[in-house]
Amino acid sequence: MSDRTYILGIESSCDETSCAVVADGGEVLSNVVASQVDLHAKFGGVVPEIASRAHIEAINSVIASAIESASVDVDQFSAVAVANQPGLIGSLLIGLMAAKTLAWVHNLPLVGVNHIYAHAYSPAVDSEPLEYPAVALVASGGHTALYRCDSPIELQLLGATIDDAAGEAFDKVASILGLGYPGGPVIDKIAHEGNPKAVDFPRSLLKGQSLDFSFSGLKTAVLYHVNGVPGALRKPNLPEVGVENLSDSDIADIAASFQAAVVDVLKIKLRRAAKIVAPRTLILGGGVSANSGLRRAAAVLAGKLGCKLRLPALKYCQDNAAMIAGVGYHYLKAGLTAGLDLDARATVSR
Ligand code: KG4
Ligand code: ZN
Repeated sequence: MSDRTYILGIESSCDETSCAVVADGGEVLSNVVASQVDLHAKFGGVVPEIASRAHIEAINSVIASAIESASVDVDQFSAVAVANQPGLIGSLLIGLMAAKTLAWVHNLPLVGVNHIYAHAYSPAVDSEPLEYPAVALVASGGHTALYRCDSPIELQLLGATIDDAAGEAFDKVASILGLGYPGGPVIDKIAHEGNPKAVDFPRSLLKGQSLDFSFSGLKTAVLYHVNGVPGALRKPNLPEVGVENLSDSDIADIAASFQAAVVDVLKIKLRRAAKIVAPRTLILGGGVSANSGLRRAAAVLAGKLGCKLRLPALKYCQDNAAMIAGVGYHYLKAGLTAGLDLDARATVSR
């Protein structure tokens, strides 16, 4: 019998079906991700019903392939960890049912993992343990929130978006600019060719000491910048509005200016949270943590604050089961196992 703790992790909270085997909370033996991005691209965002159906089709083969490529016998697993909250309810249920079935058939403990905690743990996957206390910014297509973290499983919410998530804003702005889906990677790429000061887009909720975020006004500002303000009289001799009248360099300027506005707000709130917590570590997690502008700004901030910056490897920014199995190890060590009546929850209360 091995003295290592192998956890099988399952993730299906949104549009990635993923299964991983991770040893001792960090060493990834396998991490299989079936992305549905092509299925949702034509809709410009994730369609929940399509997502759940695609999870059903993918889950068995994803699990089989993760177990096979890890080369660990099922009887050597210490637990099955599954993201059971928050997320799309129909999607979560597919991973949860698969996890319960495996736990029951193989007589293994079941661990229900908070998907956000897993993102905040993702820099430790295939890497060094994190040092606490930490401030974590988790920004993705579904979430944008700041946490004080005292361990991988002790997180306290400091602030969150009151409307759109940062990644959602990237996706919607990319759609306004005709850049396709998902928006984050393409905006990040073309922002390098644009001028971030070309358009002065709004930075919301900066007054006072709020740690909450709002990105819907920014998205609307981009929409009005591109298409004009609905109903407003236009002076004669102004250029035609509409994305079809923009040059590639106009589009790059808008992308760069939009990204600068998002990164500014994320950086300012991260700094505010760090002033309160005095952390040893700043953590980024979630799809938006792949953003090159955000990574650069966070590195500068961490340098000024004198704390460590821990970023997930690019492949662990997006949803993946390695982070679920990784943080699941810490749940298991703390005795936080669940019964087969474990529920999926779409939201987690503040
Ligand atoms: O964590 P994730 O895979 O799924 C959710 O839980 O939402 O995040 C996906 C989101 C999408 O909105 C995508 O546009 C965004 O992350 N994203 C990025 C970048 N790469 C992905 N946003 C900004 N810059 C990027 N490089
Ligand atoms: Zn996520």
